[in-house]
Amino acid sequence: MSAVSSRLPVFPWDKLEPYKATAAAHADGIVDLSVGTPVDPVPELIQKALAAAADSPGYPTVWGTPALRNALTGWVEGRLGAVGVTHANVLPVVGSKELVAWLPTQLGLGPGDRVGYPRLAYPTYEVGARLCGATPVEYDDPTELDPAGLKLLWLNSPSNPTGRVTPKEELARTVAWAREHGVLVFSDECYLELGWEGAEPVSVLHPDVCGGAYDGIVAVHSLSKRSNLAGYRAAFIAGDERVLGALLLIRKHGGMMVPAPVQAATAVALGDDGHVAEQRERYAARRAALRAALEGHGFRIEHSEASLYLWATRDEPCWETVAYLAELGILVAPGDFYGSAGERFVRVAFTATDERVQAAVKRLGG
Ligand SMILES: Cc1ncc(COP(=O)(O)O)c(C=O)c1O
Repeated sequence: MSAVSSRLPVFPWDKLEPYKATAAAHADGIVDLSVGTPVDPVPELIQKALAAAADSPGYPTVWGTPALRNALTGWVEGRLGAVGVTHANVLPVVGSKELVAWLPTQLGLGPGDRVGYPRLAYPTYEVGARLCGATPVEYDDPTELDPAGLKLLWLNSPSNPTGRVTPKEELARTVAWAREHGVLVFSDECYLELGWEGAEPVSVLHPDVCGGAYDGIVAVHSLSKRSNLAGYRAAFIAGDERVLGALLLIRKHGGMMVPAPVQAATAVALGDDGHVAEQRERYAARRAALRAALEGHGFRIEHSEASLYLWATRDEPCWETVAYLAELGILVAPGDFYGSAGERFVRVAFTATDERVQAAVKRLGG
């Protein structure tokens, strides 16, 4: 019946269901650290902006209101350090997951084309390649890929699932290599505001990385994590105006416009750093508590300098760790959801309430 769905991998989260049932049977309830979904309130100023725009009977513009575009260019310059950003360099999109999944199709890729992404990665990069019939290819170092037929290269720093931050020099080297070989770079930077240790995460749009020009590079940003807006589907892309112009045209014809109240809420959210700082404090405390408890319990944590995850191992197959923690009422994601290189790790999200995080810490003996 459906040729497209047959190209897709098994939906991995279904495999976690039995462990979820085990964890849910714990006397003090489940602590679900498996999914990186925000649990704290949407900041009030954002809720107010959404509500104030509730009376929006007409179709929204695909490119966004001028106020939203100003907010996007302002944020990209102010927060990412990009220079000379105009409205032609920004495009609001409905959710970055949707962008990742449908970008290769919208770029016109198909059989014979290759899409590269990190060996350990957010699974939707592969899904996007498969949806259009392109060939997914994993890399350790993108500059070691064969550039033949490589039409799209995904970067992801800070990384989901490992929390690794790609150093600025490494990003610059990759961008130079991609430009030399005519490979389009999309850099998924949705955790950029969530750096904890070591060097600050840097955008591909920073002049030290791209030389102040945006040809061949696009950054992907989401408000889901920084502003607790996963439910709003608020995201945008910024960079090469030719690529964004083509995507704008496709979206004018094909829809996928950001709802007007979400556009208004996004503009306000990007204009306020206060709520980001507050949310960061909550996550920093949860991260520190969980990290100490896991290490005290014999786990080793790798990378995890940024993002909303601890990449943890007991030096055993990940499903054994998942089963072990489920008995303690704690649900985590097995590392092999993100590629076979993760088969001895689990991903522990610190997107749970303080109360649930404390419950996990107690069960781990912290
Ligand atoms: C690396 C990465 N990219 C994109 C997304 C999608 O975020 P959203 O669709 O909420 O913008 C996620 C969500 O977890 C992610 O981890």
